[in-house]
This record gives sequence, C-alpha cells and structure tokens, in this order.
Amino acid sequence: MTRTVLVTGGGGFIGSHTCVELLRHGDDVVVVDDHSNSSPLALERVAAIAGRPLTAYYRGDVRNADLLGTVFDRHRIDAVIHFAAKKAVGESVDIPLEYYDVNVGATTVLLRTMLRNDVHRLVFSSSCSIYGQTDRTPLGEAEPASPTNPYARSKWFCENLIADACRRYPELTAVALRYFNPIGAHPTGLLGEDPTGVPNNVMPFLLQVAVGRRPELQVFGDDYPTEDGTCVRDYIHVLDVADGHRAALRHVGADFEVFNLGTGVGTSVLQLVRAFEETCDVPIPVRIVGRRAGDVARLVADPRAVRAAWGWRATRDLATMCRDAWQFQRLNPSGYAGAATASGPGW
Ligand code: WQD
Repeated sequence: MTRTVLVTGGGGFIGSHTCVELLRHGDDVVVVDDHSNSSPLALERVAAIAGRPLTAYYRGDVRNADLLGTVFDRHRIDAVIHFAAKKAVGESVDIPLEYYDVNVGATTVLLRTMLRNDVHRLVFSSSCSIYGQTDRTPLGEAEPASPTNPYARSKWFCENLIADACRRYPELTAVALRYFNPIGAHPTGLLGEDPTGVPNNVMPFLLQVAVGRRPELQVFGDDYPTEDGTCVRDYIHVLDVADGHRAALRHVGADFEVFNLGTGVGTSVLQLVRAFEETCDVPIPVRIVGRRAGDVARLVADPRAVRAAWGWRATRDLATMCRDAWQFQRLNPSGYAGAATASGPGW
C-alpha cells in the first residue's frame, strides 16, 4: 500500500535527496518548506530525477499551525520526516532566540498537529553536534549529550521534547537520527548543497575553490592530536543519509529511539582535500591558518547500533562523496541561483 510521507524542509540539502529516495521507492510525498535556506528549483529537480511529481508542496513555515492543520486535513499522512530547521552553528550564537523559536517551536507545533490528526510516526533530524566537546571516539549513542552552542542545544531540546511526548502519548513513536558530516550530492549533478553566503562547512568551501569562486581553502589548525594535525570528521554521503531515513520509516514504531548516522571512518581535513584532488583531478590550494573556535580534534560515529537494530549501514565511500559533490558544483557553479528558471515546482 502506498504510504504518504510529510517531509518538512524537503527543499533542503538532505531533505531533497530524501524526497528523491522516497519517490523512487513508491512513497507519496508532501513537502512543507518556506525556502528560507533552500530553492524551489531543488523540488523541481527532485520530481525530474524521480520521474514522478510530489503529491503536494506547500510554501510556508512549520510553526504556522493553520498551515500545518490544512496539510493534515487535505492529506492522509502516514508518517513525518522533520528536517525544517535553522542549522548554522555560528549564526545560532548571534541569534539564539530565533534558533529556539524556529527549531523547538516548529517541532512543538508539528507534534501537536500530528497527535490531533492521529499521525504517530516521526523521524527527526538531529545532529552529532549534541555530543559537544569530547575526547571519546568513536561516539556511541549512550555518550552523554553536552551541546556547546544554541544550534546544538536546540536539537538536544527537540530530542527531549519528542521523548517526553512519546512517554505521555504511548501511541506516538519516533526515531531521532544524529547525522555526522553529510557531504556529496546526487550523482546526476542535479541536487547538491548550496549554502547562502560564505560557506561555513569544509566541503562546500572546498567546492567553491575547485570551481574558481574562491582562491584557496583555509585549513583551521594543523596542531591537533591527529595523524596529520588537522581535525578528523566522519563524512557520510547525503544519499546514505537519505537512505537511512527510509530505513527509519520502515522501523519507527517502538516509542523513542536515537541512532547515529555515520560511517565510523575518520577523515582529516587534509585527507579530504587529497581525496578530492585525486578523485576529481582538480588541485585545491590550501593555507594552514589558526584553529577555529569551538572545533574538536576528532568526531567519529560508532555506527554499530543502527546496524544491529535495522541491519542498515552507509555504503558510499569518500571518493564517491567527492565525485558526486564535484558533479553538482561543476554543473551548477553558482548553485541553484545560477541555474535556469527557479519558477517553483508548479503545482
Ligand atoms: C569540518 C572540519 C573545520 C571549514 C558542522 C556542525 C555540525 C554539523 C556538521 C549540523 C573542521 C575544518 C572547515 C573551512 C576548515 N551540522 N574546516 N576550513 O564543524 O565538523 O560540523 O557541520 O548538524 O553541527 O558543527 O563541520 O564542515 O564546518 O568542519 O579547515 O573553511 O573542517 O575546522 O575541522 P563541523 P565543518
């Protein structure tokens, strides 16, 4: 039987890839997105790649209870994947109240609307940043949370409020997925990461260097206690993250569970640069500069719990992540803004 999945933030980097995977596997998809940090063009491309349209698309804010009520009135929603959120760590320190309002507020309105409409399955977009500054590696889900900025705290608050709601309403079930560092893009080159302004994250920055928009990649610190002195992260292909959400939808149904989405493989900044250069045959000038405030030396997932529970694991390697990310950047040097008409998905 066809399932209808509501995807909030479906136009974003991870949301758009997840919509493709859901459509390709036969789910009907309804999207709510205000496009505060995404392009309607991404949703047009989702439909083009999947070869089927979204069932419906609503441009608006998840905190708008009237809008959400209308969506649940019009569609028989079976499950919800909640991506819509603000996600820039530095910005969250500058405008913390906005982060709590958007991230926690939207989750509260969503849960209320779900319960009112007897929708009881939620997959929530969480983050490895809730583990905070830790020397322990790899990181398992039992590691105590210790978020160090408003963004990470907002995700931790959301996990807790979902857990509290699941305790109070036993029919409600949820899975929170703590992503490590999603990179890569759809292999068609039609979907990818398109940050506004100067990229904060290493891969989008590296890609803009590769395409000639920036002269060099600054590497933040080479005096960390790692193999080559640069920070180590657990990069995971965005399509693996998307596939992890399909697995979560198959398994959600037992109160509240939390899983890491990572590969368990650590890669340093310089290793990432080298992998990109070798895979894509594009030189990346780098300059070592001082450490960035708040960075930890090593953040690598222990990915075993989700594998034990669902038999699921990430399958794409670093070369694939680099190749696919480059394909998107090459074909869309200025991101979605530089591509043909962004007229909207047209429903
Ligand atoms: C990776 C490494 C930098 C930029 C962030 C969020 C986290 C999660 C993923 C959402 C670090 C170095 C970076 C640059 C560099 N997002 N770097 N030059 O900090 O691991 O995680 O994104 O949930 O919450 O905090 O990712 O890509 O910013 O940095 O040398 O221009 O690359 O110092 O070592 P991070 P990142």
